[in-house]
Amino acid sequence: MSDSNFPTIGIVSGTGREGTALATRLAQAGYPVIIGSRTEERALQKARELAALLRNAGLDPTLSGATNAEMAEKAGVCVLSVPFPHVLESVRLLSFRPGTVVIDTTVPVAFEGRSARFVDTGGRSVAEQIQAAVSPGVHVATAFQTIPARILGDLDSPLDCDIFVCSDSPEAKRVTMDLVRPIPGLRPVDAGSLAEAGTIERMAVLAISMNLRYRVKSARFRVVGL
Ligand SMILES: NC(=O)c1ccc[n+]([C@@H]2O[C@H](COP(=O)([O-])OP(=O)(O)OC[C@H]3O[C@@H](n4cnc5c(N)ncnc54)[C@H](OP(=O)(O)O)[C@@H]3O)[C@@H](O)[C@H]2O)c1
Repeated sequence: MSDSNFPTIGIVSGTGREGTALATRLAQAGYPVIIGSRTEERALQKARELAALLRNAGLDPTLSGATNAEMAEKAGVCVLSVPFPHVLESVRLLSFRPGTVVIDTTVPVAFEGRSARFVDTGGRSVAEQIQAAVSPGVHVATAFQTIPARILGDLDSPLDCDIFVCSDSPEAKRVTMDLVRPIPGLRPVDAGSLAEAGTIERMAVLAISMNLRYRVKSARFRVVGL
């Protein structure tokens, strides 16, 4: 059952690995979740599948599916879960309502065999470029880049790590940190502005590289001393 005090969270292209993992944990924490997709049928199918899975795990999720476009008009908080090469074009196709908080999870990474490399984003973080692409009144924050979807989506795995949150908008940062807090085992950490999100994007590539090198899918970050 969702918590009536929690906002509805839309997940843009929530049908993939990251979107499914986020929907799982957000629904577990009590958020109503709308899974978005470029095609309605894919969104509905994923929402049905995930709801059945979570019910089998003893949860009572509030999950629905919609096209990305329809979802962007409804949800006050939208999480972007689109592969890096397509995220800017996807965002430009959507009309977020003024006041929407858009949470970006994008990692600018390219894979070459068993190694991962940071893709040069031209001196501006992906998040800054997304902020420049959305309408005035829509505020971008970043979160979840540094945690692998594999562990985030596995309800049997304790998370025990930090989620770095960046934004140029104090309100979007507050909303995003509040969204992270009810997820067991995650601690939101204020990591600064959207310019500083570039460092977090690089740290995410570092985590991916370590996962590949050590042949695990669980390397992530926790800051000590905070
Ligand atoms: N995987 C991870 O561990 C992880 C961790 C942290 C952050 N992230 C970030 O999360 C985002 C999604 O990663 P992912 O691993 O979930 O990717 P993914 O599974 O490969 O794709 C996610 C979804 O993106 C949509 N999509 C595919 N091709 C597209 C295109 N050409 N244009 C627009 N949309 C397209 C698809 O949804 P529809 O066909 O239904 O529209 C797909 O289900 C990335 O930015 C990634 O950096 C991933």
